Amino acid sequence: MFFRNLSVLAAFAAGALALNRTGPYHIHITGKTDKSIDGYGASYHAGAAIEALVYLAGAPNGTSQEYYYDYSGYNPETGAVFQPGSIVWQLPLVGENGTTYVPEALTFNSGVNYASNVQPAMFYPGDSGGAYVSFHDDGADANHTVYLTGSDDSKNTATRPEQGADYVNVTNWHLCWQYVGGGYWYETVSWVYSQPPSNPSCRAVNLALELI
Ligand SMILES: *[C@@H]1O[C@H](CO)[C@@H](O)[C@H](O)[C@H]1NC(C)=O
Ligand SMILES: *[C@@H]1O[C@H](CO)[C@@H](O)[C@H](O)[C@H]1NC(C)=O
Ligand SMILES: *[C@@H]1O[C@H](CO)[C@@H](O)[C@H](O)[C@H]1NC(C)=O
Ligand SMILES: *[C@@H]1O[C@H](CO)[C@@H](O)[C@H](O)[C@H]1NC(C)=O
Ligand SMILES: *[C@@H]1O[C@H](CO)[C@@H](O)[C@H](O)[C@H]1NC(C)=O
Repeated sequence: MFFRNLSVLAAFAAGALALNRTGPYHIHITGKTDKSIDGYGASYHAGAAIEALVYLAGAPNGTSQEYYYDYSGYNPETGAVFQPGSIVWQLPLVGENGTTYVPEALTFNSGVNYASNVQPAMFYPGDSGGAYVSFHDDGADANHTVYLTGSDDSKNTATRPEQGADYVNVTNWHLCWQYVGGGYWYETVSWVYSQPPSNPSCRAVNLALELI
């Protein structure tokens, strides 16, 4: 998705904010086994209004490292929100009337490499269509680990099983060097669909959302 015409992009900025947005958060990245990995996610330019989520060592610094979490639903009677939701970055757009912000939801569906089981986390304009992610939203007790929920198909046979019993929470986040977007070489935050990652530069990490 490329935007040659800025007015198309401005239409996203004018859109209403998604319901039940919380944040901003930093995305803390720590190595699962490699304790030298300790840093934060950052949005790096990867094309016209396209960003990749990359790893930066050390303390976070500035709005390119600040994200929001949009809950995907709420109970209409109580207002209570529920997960999963999506992680959103606000792309600044400088125009004649000052800076406006275009919401961009994190997704993995960017220029898929069909020969790889590693997909980079990317941001495209729009606050819908993001990957459904969850995090442990447990307040001060700080396990804010970001995970995805899927169904375990590793025991499938031709016999149709009962549905719904095999969901698992997975944290297959890795840092992997690869080309993203319009040919940018970054150490990206990536999702690995099956172990081991086909890209040997990948290092397993955990992501956590830290409220700023
Ligand atoms: C944080 O970012 C600002 C603006 O880019 C820069 O001037 C400053 O040196 C940075 N601070 C650190 C600790 O990196
Ligand atoms: C979520 O959004 C709905 C609709 O705006 C609102 O009624 C509800 O109170 C919100 N819930 C929370 C926890 O903010
Ligand atoms: C800037 O504001 C003026 C006055 O409200 C409006 O006519 C114009 O369309 C705005 N420009 C953009 C790019 O939104
Ligand atoms: C936090 O949650 C993740 C994913 O569920 C789990 O792997 C990890 O052990 C938990 N960490 C703590 C400190 O509870
Ligand atoms: C995934 O984690 C959430 C939050 O801790 C928990 O409520 C849910 O039961 C977990 N799902 C599975 C399949 O373990």
